[in-house]
Amino acid sequence: MKADLDPKSRLFVALDVPNVEQARALVEAIGDAAKCYKVGLELLFGGGISFAQGLKAAGKDVFLDMKLLDIPNTVQMAAANIAGLGFDYLTVHGHDRKTLDAAVKGRGNAKLKLLAVTVLTSLDTSDLREQGIATIEPAELVVHRAKLAKAAGFDGVIASGQEAALVRKAVGPGFLIVTPGIRLAEGPDQDQARVMTPGKAIVAGASHLVVGRPITQATDPAAVARHFVEDIAKFA
Ligand code: C5P
Repeated sequence: MKADLDPKSRLFVALDVPNVEQARALVEAIGDAAKCYKVGLELLFGGGISFAQGLKAAGKDVFLDMKLLDIPNTVQMAAANIAGLGFDYLTVHGHDRKTLDAAVKGRGNAKLKLLAVTVLTSLDTSDLREQGIATIEPAELVVHRAKLAKAAGFDGVIASGQEAALVRKAVGPGFLIVTPGIRLAEGPDQDQARVMTPGKAIVAGASHLVVGRPITQATDPAAVARHFVEDIAKFA
């Protein structure tokens, strides 16, 4: 899927570090080996927004993993503000159409791509039951919400490698499927329970991969990032 994309632009390096100093050191060490960075809630409160603006100024793509969820007016205004800052990707919880529509409205004509978080991969069937969701399994809910996100005008979803094939079948080509939990065949899994190699995730239908610790904790982050990009290119 999305074979037209340059392999390097299909890799998001997750900057899951507490402060800007560590983030800057990583980006410097990675150099030209990666083009896109994910800034999440941890770095957000360590100076992440101005750091992310610096990344943009340096020609990188920025994925703000903010997982917005609030009343429509708040989501709309937050999406509008984020779009105005020139970032490339933003996550919004994709539970309901009102929230999705509000984010699309807030984004307006900006180039910001909206990605829906369908069901967090930390949640299993028993967690859905606890929430009062009684009749559906997580994978079915992921597909249901992916269709909802597409209908609302979202650009894509976050989905595990296991769900990528189901989602791709449901939404067709072109819709972005951004997949975390990616490990090289020879590396450790860390705490990710359902891991997949880059090639398998791409073949399953992922358009982009999110990779954190295998790159950020490597002795040579640039070499490992290059390895991921090579694997993406092989299977694209
Ligand atoms: O270090 P690792 O490669 O496991 O990092 C994966 C990144 O993807 C982290 O930023 C994590 O928050 C994110 N993520 C995930 N599973 C999800 C959604 C996001 O691991 N379902």
